[in-house]
Amino acid sequence: MKALVFNKYGKPEEVLQVKEIDKPKPKENEVLVNVKSTSINDYDWGMVRGRPKLYQLLFGLFRPKYTIPGMELSGIVEEVGSKVTELKFGDHVYGDISEVCFGTFAEYIAIDAKAIVTKPAGLSFEQAAALPHAGLLAYQALKEIKEHQKVLINGAGGGVGTIAIQIAKHYNCEVTGVDTSAKFDMMRTQGFDHVIDYQQSDFTKTGEKYDVILDCKSKKSAFAYLKALKPNGTYVTVGGDLTNLIGLLFWGKLLSIFSKKKLQILALKPNEGLDELNKLFNIKCQIDGPYKPEEIPRLIQYFGEGKHKGKVVVNF
Ligand SMILES: NC(=O)c1ccc[n+]([C@@H]2O[C@H](COP(=O)([O-])OP(=O)(O)OC[C@H]3O[C@@H](n4cnc5c(N)ncnc54)[C@H](OP(=O)(O)O)[C@@H]3O)[C@@H](O)[C@H]2O)c1
Repeated sequence: MKALVFNKYGKPEEVLQVKEIDKPKPKENEVLVNVKSTSINDYDWGMVRGRPKLYQLLFGLFRPKYTIPGMELSGIVEEVGSKVTELKFGDHVYGDISEVCFGTFAEYIAIDAKAIVTKPAGLSFEQAAALPHAGLLAYQALKEIKEHQKVLINGAGGGVGTIAIQIAKHYNCEVTGVDTSAKFDMMRTQGFDHVIDYQQSDFTKTGEKYDVILDCKSKKSAFAYLKALKPNGTYVTVGGDLTNLIGLLFWGKLLSIFSKKKLQILALKPNEGLDELNKLFNIKCQIDGPYKPEEIPRLIQYFGEGKHKGKVVVNF
C-alpha cells in the first residue's frame, strides 16, 4: 500500500516520502480501514519537524515513534478484529484518532475500533475527514455561547475558525474574525460581520469589547485579553504560544476568585459530541483541496506557513 513515511525529523519536503509498504493486519481490538480522505493538522506540522521540542518529548526524543503522520480520517472498514463489536465490514467511519495513534497518511490503517465512529450517510468522505478535530475544538470551546452575543474569533481563517463561525451564526451572534487580509474574501463569504488584519491592528487595543473571544493562536498576555472582554465575558483559547498559555492558566485560576470574566484553555476531548455537532449545526467545512497523497509533504509546509484556507483535505 501507499504511505507517507518519515524516519527522522526535518522539513516535510525533505524527510517525508511516498513509499510502498505492507498493509497492516488488525489486532483483535482493531479494524482495518481503507482511508478515503484525511486532512492536515497542527500535529503533522509539529510532529514531522519535531518542533517545538515538546513534540520530541511526546513523539520520540531522537527519532519519530510514529513513522506515518496524520490523525484525522474517513474511510471504509475492510477487516474486523475478533473482539470488535462496535463496527463491521463495510461500515463508513471517521474520526480524530490522536488520542490513540497516528498514521492516516496511508491507504490503510489498523486502528482501535473505539478511536473512530460511524459516519453519517449524508456526510461526504471529504467533509468527514475535515470535521472531527477542528469541529470539536470549535464546538467544545463554544459550548456556552448564547443568542445575539458579540463574538470574536482570532485565527478565524483556519480549520477551527471557519467552523466556529457557523456555530456562532446559528446563535445569531455578531462575529468579528481576525486573520490575514488574504483570507478576508473567504471569511466574508462564510458570514463574518467584521474582519481585522492582525498584521495591521491589535484587536485587544481597538476599544471594542466582546462577550466571547475564541482564540486559535494565543500570542498575548492574559491582561490584553481581559481588556477586550465585556464584564461577564469569556475568553477561551484552543492553542497558541506555550508561555502565553501558561500565563492564561495561572491568571485564569486566580481571576475566577474575584472577577466574573473568565479565561479558559480548552483541552480537546476527541470525537466527544461529534454526533451532536453534525445534527445541531449541519456544518459545511471550508475545504482547501482535495489534493493527492503525493502532495502531502508540500501541503504540510503550506499549512505550517498559514497559507491554507479552512481545512486542507487529501483523498487517497
Ligand atoms: N486544545 C487542544 O486540546 C488542542 C489539540 C490539538 C491542537 N490544538 C490547537 O488548536 C489550534 C487549531 O487551530 P486551527 O486548526 O484552526 O489552525 P489553523 O488552521 O492553522 O488556523 C489558524 C489561523 O490563525 C492564523 N494566525 C496565525 N497567527 C495569528 C495571529 N497571531 N493572530 C491571528 N491569527 C493568526 C493563521 O493564518 P496565518 O498563519 O496566515 O496568519 C490561520 O489562518 C492550533 O493552535 C493547535 O495547536 C489544540
